[in-house]
Amino acid sequence: MARLLSYGVCNAFLVDVWTASSHRRRGIGSELVKRLLEQVAGQYVGLQTDDAQQFYASLGFRPQPESWSRVVGRWVDNDTATAASTHS
Ligand SMILES: CC(C)(COP(=O)(O)OP(=O)(O)OC[C@H]1O[C@@H](n2cnc3c(N)ncnc32)[C@H](O)[C@@H]1OP(=O)(O)O)[C@@H](O)C(=O)NCCC(=O)NCCS
Repeated sequence: MARLLSYGVCNAFLVDVWTASSHRRRGIGSELVKRLLEQVAGQYVGLQTDDAQQFYASLGFRPQPESWSRVVGRWVDNDTATAASTHS
């Protein structure tokens, strides 16, 4: 699976790129990302990765010298999601 978030103008963000362990190194991840990138010609595409640098480099991505981020509260401790699932 792979998702690309974009508001359709100039910025997009690639998230949740994942190939089943049993099917890795067969070009599946690359094909998913390439198909998504075709949808956002002309846009800046950002991503965050801890350990898939070689994969993204093979697709033409390069490190961004300065990137800022923050976690709101504790990471993956989302009271809103918990409340939504409790009340749905
Ligand atoms: C990263 C991931 C999506 C790659 O998917 P994939 O389908 O195996 O990728 P591809 O077969 O298209 O790989 C394309 C190229 O990327 C590079 N690459 C992919 N996995 C790599 C690895 N583990 N180590 C080094 N290079 C790797 C190689 O250059 C590869 O080409 P090659 O196989 O001809 O050498 C997959 O390993 C995965 O799901 N990992 C766990 C989730 C994850 O880390 N996602 C990224 C979060 S940001």
